[in-house]
Amino acid sequence: MKPEHFIGGQIPNITFGLLKDGEIQAVDAQMVFSHRKVVAIGVPGAYTPVCTEQHIPDFVRNATKLKRSGYDKLICIAPNDPFVLERWARELDPSGKILFLSDGNLEFARALGLTAELPSLFLGERCERFMMITVNGKIQNLRVEPNVLTYSCTRSEDALAADDEVCLI
Ligand code: BEZ
Repeated sequence: MKPEHFIGGQIPNITFGLLKDGEIQAVDAQMVFSHRKVVAIGVPGAYTPVCTEQHIPDFVRNATKLKRSGYDKLICIAPNDPFVLERWARELDPSGKILFLSDGNLEFARALGLTAELPSLFLGERCERFMMITVNGKIQNLRVEPNVLTYSCTRSEDALAADDEVCLI
């Protein structure tokens, strides 16, 4: 199913991976998104240029503004393993403004039709570059870039401009 079919629905019942004190923990997706307004960005890969030099720094830079505008939690979802993701998160967001969650099994991306096949770039199966706004676990707004290398509609300014209307762009 295409991502637009999931607008208005709940966050899928899957688990993310998170490295804590050197151990991999399973984190329940519905728990993370419940009882709050969240902006989550999905990126195709840690350490890739657009993600590392543009997408994550933009959200780190504007984290305070996003929180002040009403987002309770900022999340980055990436298809890397929890070890890589933890190292990348520490480098880009040392003060921990964003929660980085591993979708290394692509459960989240598959459940929402957000997988991307990138064999020509030697990345195999990853996820699209997306931005999702959720309220109490319900998907209100989902934006998917036309391709993983573009960064045009999933920026922090798009999250700041988005209202609570249900929409897919
Ligand atoms: C990036 O620069 O973010 C990127 C590069 C290759 C594949 C996917 C993403």
